[in-house]
Amino acid sequence: MSNLVRITVNQKEIEAQSGANLLQTLLDNGIETPHFCYHEALGPDGNCRMCMVEIEGQKRPQIACDTFVEDNMVISTKSDNIMAVKRSILELELINHPVDCPICDQAGECKLQEYYMEVGLYDSRLETPKVTHKKHIDLGSNVMLDQERCVLCERCARFTTSYTKTNELGIVGRGDHAKISTMPGKKLNNPYAMNVVDICPVGALTSKDFRFKQRVWFMTATPSICQSCAKGCNIYIDHNTLKYGTPVIHRYRPRKNLAVNGHFICDEGRLSFKEQNEDDFRGTYSRNLNINFKKAISKMQKLLKSESNHTLIVLSPSLLNEQIASVIQFSKIIGANVFCPLERYTDENFGDDILRSNDRASNRWTINALKIETDYNKFIDSLDSARLVINFNHKLLLNPERELSNKLTNKINVHFSEVECENRQDSEISFAYAPFSYVSGSTVNENGHLQQLNAALVPTEKKPDLLELIHIVSEKKVSHTNEQIWQNEMRDLEVFKNINFSKIPLGGLAFGESNV
Ligand code: SF4
Ligand code: SF4
Ligand code: FES
Repeated sequence: MSNLVRITVNQKEIEAQSGANLLQTLLDNGIETPHFCYHEALGPDGNCRMCMVEIEGQKRPQIACDTFVEDNMVISTKSDNIMAVKRSILELELINHPVDCPICDQAGECKLQEYYMEVGLYDSRLETPKVTHKKHIDLGSNVMLDQERCVLCERCARFTTSYTKTNELGIVGRGDHAKISTMPGKKLNNPYAMNVVDICPVGALTSKDFRFKQRVWFMTATPSICQSCAKGCNIYIDHNTLKYGTPVIHRYRPRKNLAVNGHFICDEGRLSFKEQNEDDFRGTYSRNLNINFKKAISKMQKLLKSESNHTLIVLSPSLLNEQIASVIQFSKIIGANVFCPLERYTDENFGDDILRSNDRASNRWTINALKIETDYNKFIDSLDSARLVINFNHKLLLNPERELSNKLTNKINVHFSEVECENRQDSEISFAYAPFSYVSGSTVNENGHLQQLNAALVPTEKKPDLLELIHIVSEKKVSHTNEQIWQNEMRDLEVFKNINFSKIPLGGLAFGESNV
């Protein structure tokens, strides 16, 4: 039951939930309050003391992360007294810290650096040598540890205790010799391990994959959705284009969405950005020959005319909603049946009870909601009578097993795909198109949560937007921008007809079962 009270922070009154965590309340209200050990997903631990605030009526400063909101509290986060406390805590943190910011990957997003610049003592009073620890320790699972940079906040260890329940990390030793370490005989080895890199407030834990590759201030963060399984975790795509260089995605990071993935993502999804950077398959082909775009389009349009009423379409259940709507409209124009067999999109070894789903089709919900035929046997029956088979990035046809491959040998095969078809020599025409990081659109996750993706990079002539390709192939009978697709083709689809694309919030929209 909601129980709102009023508290005063730095002479300003705010409304807060009675009994709520004071630090989280301050952060939610945009009141910058330095902290190392508290994390919204892990709760308070009270070990770093950086979140000290003054509360009227209390003799000593209190840690905000372990204080509950009460009516009429009067708090100061910036009084001279509090600043002096923070300064001395930072001095303690930095006694043995190597201060190697210029070569540290965390620079630019390091809490220790930020707080020090705000309230640091600046002049070192240290006269004794620093205690040294080990640097670049390979913890496993793509994570490197620099023990000297650690502020012993224990977030990483608490993550393995409370989130993954794998208990790989802990603090060993006492006093100056305390350090974070893997437990004897253990490696940091779980499918979510790389999240410790994000939650580490300093540069003690870095990603083997990302370290020394890019300065964070040179990158742009674009909000998007992971497409590696049906969970639809919210991510940031960190990318940039250096002068005279090609656009590059450097990493995916989790984006907080309590309705979907909380604060974290799995390592496989996190590292899937590498596929988006692959650029070997681009342009248009006829069998193994690279042909020019105009020739490919004219060949395709001739095929559509000659094989009219003998055409079958297969689409991937990982296409975006707008791409699915575009393919459906295209199928109506050319009079083709549409299939989406789902077998190849289930991976019994992937799912768990944390985030990962066995369903590797990122948009299966929409396929089911639109009642697209998913039965493999029905697809095979229709295949027998088809002459032209158009595949929109379905794994089954890009990499067919022998029986299906034999059936496809007698057909005219056309592929629109993000990746190369395994037997391109059997493909009459192949069109490469841009993967999801290059386009805007939407998907619906396995729980019926509609979410928007934003384009981080720009499609190229050799890797165009699929919507644009279908628009051209259909002789402009199908719309070619998201906005137009939502105004036209999506209006014809019952489940989407009342949704306004521009109003889908950043955190997505719950569809609910009733709309299926
Ligand atoms: S390695 Fe990072 S997250 Fe772990 S205790 Fe040290 S500072 Fe905290
Ligand atoms: S759980 Fe699924 S959606 Fe989430 S990051 Fe992993 S692969 Fe991507
Ligand atoms: S954040 Fe409160 S003690 Fe660390």
